[in-house]
This record gives sequence, C-alpha cells and structure tokens, in this order.
Amino acid sequence: MALKRLPWDCVIPGCFKARTAPAQYKRDISKQTSLQRLSLSDVSNHGSAISANDLSSSLVGSNLHIFTLVELETITHNFSKSNYLGEGGFGVVYKGMIDDNLRPKLKAQVVAVKMLDLDGTQGHREWLAEVIFLGQLRHPHLVNLIGYCCEDVHRLLVYQYMERGNLEDQLFRRYSSALPWLTRIKIAIGAAKGLAFLHEEEKPVIYRDFKASNVLLDSEYNAKLSDFGLAVDGPQGDNTHVTARVMGTQGYAAPEYISTGHLTIMSDVYSFGVVLLELITGQRAVDKSRPTREKDLVNWARPMLKDTHKLDKIVDPRLEGLYSTEGAKKAVLLAHQCLSHNPKCRPSMQTVVKTLETIMGLDDIPVRSFVYIDPEPGKDVSADDCEDAPDKDQNEPWNENRVEEEAEIKNGKGRRRQKRAHKHRRRARASRSRSVFSDTALYSALGTSLYSPKSKNESKENTEE
Ligand SMILES: Nc1ncnc2c1ncn2[C@@H]1O[C@H](COP(=O)(O)OP(=O)(O)O)[C@@H](O)[C@H]1O
Ligand SMILES: [Mg+2]
Repeated sequence: MALKRLPWDCVIPGCFKARTAPAQYKRDISKQTSLQRLSLSDVSNHGSAISANDLSSSLVGSNLHIFTLVELETITHNFSKSNYLGEGGFGVVYKGMIDDNLRPKLKAQVVAVKMLDLDGTQGHREWLAEVIFLGQLRHPHLVNLIGYCCEDVHRLLVYQYMERGNLEDQLFRRYSSALPWLTRIKIAIGAAKGLAFLHEEEKPVIYRDFKASNVLLDSEYNAKLSDFGLAVDGPQGDNTHVTARVMGTQGYAAPEYISTGHLTIMSDVYSFGVVLLELITGQRAVDKSRPTREKDLVNWARPMLKDTHKLDKIVDPRLEGLYSTEGAKKAVLLAHQCLSHNPKCRPSMQTVVKTLETIMGLDDIPVRSFVYIDPEPGKDVSADDCEDAPDKDQNEPWNENRVEEEAEIKNGKGRRRQKRAHKHRRRARASRSRSVFSDTALYSALGTSLYSPKSKNESKENTEE
C-alpha cells in the first residue's frame, strides 16, 4: 500500500498523537456533551488541537473505536484489491474481517473500511463530518459507524458491512434480473426514513449528497444512508437556510441550491425525488449515453410526471409490467412533488414516508406467468451474447433470484402476454444504451458563479464553514 505524506494545512493537528486539547476546548466539549449533540461547527471552530481520543469521548452517545493503521491493514489484508468494495470522492472502501482477538470489547464481524485518498479532492473536513454525524446519530436507516483511524495524515472510517452494496449498482446492473417493484418501494421507504430522521432532529441535519450510490443495502434490502462527508447542520433559530459552497453530484442537487448556494432540508427532498425517479424509471439521473433530450432524467421525465396516461413511458420496462398501476401513479406524483421548482411546495420527508407506505400496501400487481419467448429465428444463444458479462459480483451470487417476487404478485395474466413482447424489446434497447456514469462529480468544477451565493441581505441565513 502506497500511503503518501502531503503538506496538508487543512488537517487539524490534534490527530497527531502527541498533541493534547487546550483546557478551554475540553471545557466547552464536556459542557456540550452533557447538553446535546456536538455540531460539526463546534469542532471546526476550535480550529486546532483535538486529539483522536478527545473526539471519541466527546461525541454524545457514541461508542466509537479508535483503530490504528496497522490494525486496519491487518483486517483488510493490507488493503488488498480483492477486498475492494467501491469508491467515491473520499477514497476506496475495502472489506475487512474483525476477529475476536482484535479488541476485547469488539465482536467478530465483517466491516467496510473507507480510506481517504491523499491525492483526492476530499480531506479532513469530510472525514470529520462523518465521525461527528454518524458517531452520534444512530438509526436503523443510517449505516453504523464502528470506529475510525486518525494517524498522521491518514484518515479512515470503519462501518458495518452492507451485504448488497449500493443502490446504484443494484438498480442499474445490466446482467441480472431487475429489482422488483415492491423491493424498490421498500428501499425508497428505508432511505426516506433515514432522511426524515435527520430532518426531524432537534438540530436538523441536511444530508446534501443524497444519491443512489450513497444508499447502501443489507441482505434484506433494508436501505441505510452512508457517506456523511458533505452533511451540514441545518439552519438554527429564525434562519431560513444555510449558505454552503455548492457541492454534490450532478443530476441530484436542487436547482435553487445550485443557483444561490442556499441550502435547506428541502434540497434533500429534491435529491430524494431524483432517486425515486431512478427507482421508477430504471434510468440514471444523468446518462451521457442516451439521446440528448434524455440525458438528464428530470428534464426528460418532468413533462410526463403529471400525465397518468404516460405511465407506460415512464415506468422501467425491465419490470415487464409487474407493478401496481395505482402505486406507480402515486409514486410518479410523489416524485413530481419532490422535484417541484419551489422548495416550499415539496413535501416533508415524513409525508414522503407515509405516501410510500400506502404504495407498499397496494397489491394490484399482475402475476408473472411463464411465457417461452422464441429466440430470433436462426439465432442460437452463443458465447458472444455473454461476451461482456461482468465478473461475478462479490456481494451477491451471480444470477441470484433477488427477491421472492412471486410472493408479491397476485393475478391477471391475459393482457400482459402481448405487452410483454413489446416491453421485452424496449427493455433490450434500454439495457443496450446504459453505461456506467462516474459516482461523484463535484460542482466545484462548474465555475465560480456556483460559489457566489447571492446577497446575504435577501433573507436570514447561517453560513457554513
Ligand atoms: N458499509 C459498506 N458496506 C459495503 N459497501 C460499502 C460500504 N460503504 C461504502 N461501500 C461501497 O463503497 C462505495 C463508496 O462509499 P462512500 O461512503 O459513498 O464513499 P465516498 O465518500 O468516497 O463517496 C459505496 O457506493 C459502496 O459501493
Ligand atoms: Mg459516496
């Protein structure tokens, strides 16, 4: 493993082992601890001298383990390529195995270890945000942070391992069966509950980077939010928004945030609307391989979202009609509301959860009947057809039957037979046109106007950083 040392002025030097926190800082933190959750700004404002130990003991309700780099090297087999799970703007994530002998109070378990890329665009601030937020916020729909490592310039995070990886891979993987309708709704509910929890905290949290690759799935498709690197505390008191440098991912960020830098919990609701639309359509938020008009999912779909007659054009053809028509109508309408240009017209995440739960209860889903589809005349299935099939996924057996779909499905076989052939063709076209789109595209590349939040006088605001 090549770990490089950087001249790094953004690093809080306290993570160097020898430093100790000044008395004033310790007093503030202990006062804070007894009252409420520690904010990112509480720590950042002190600007210096916070040791890894102080951090762990200061976080309300946290039970974080502080790992050494050597320990994490051991459990990931020296950050071996064969343990690779994924990566984003922060760095690579590796699978690791903690055994009974590593720590007396730490049970044997599989974990995911995220290591800061020292040549990348993110750094200590993002690492600290994850420790501060995930260290203190515990919820069934947030990934569990087990601990961290902060040695010299190295920054690592240790999470519970999520067997099915991220939603983006599950939803857009080309060579396996499509995620069934109710599984998609289950995932949407889980992610929505995670966001609702953040928004309803006494000190609300804006997640800021909600997207399919940041939603992780366990073996039963329970969704959990991970990657709190860009999360910020929401507006306090009478403030209507926080002003934040425009960062996030192309295709998911709310338009008012991009144009003004004003960030509210409604910015998260917009991003949720984009992911909901991805779940409904099976299309990526941005897909450069599609025709120009269709590259941006929201722009393409928006005119059709209010027209229930267009349902067939919007819903993922890979579902082959196996979805509740009523449920799909409600889901499309919900996505439309979340994607409203006016943030005030977007629903709260709690309302989103409730609406999705009613959709989950709708079981007018056609039964899958077995239909033998003739291969094209004279064309046998050959090795060429599978030529570029990906390697077997490390999280999931190849060709695994993802969900007991039949259990979800009720009846109504007839009309679907004709439609299936048509939809099969659409599906084939759709999957041919898909291509991988990079995970994180920071708006920082998009020019200075995005960094110039408009007049501070326009309305009350908090300022991040
Ligand atoms: N706890 C985990 N279990 C399984 N895979 C994970 C876990 N955490 C991250 N990953 C994989 O690594 C990818 C990048 O993780 P993420 O936390 O989003 O990193 P970044 O901050 O660099 O964007 C995820 O999309 C997922 O595929
Ligand atoms: Mg990420």
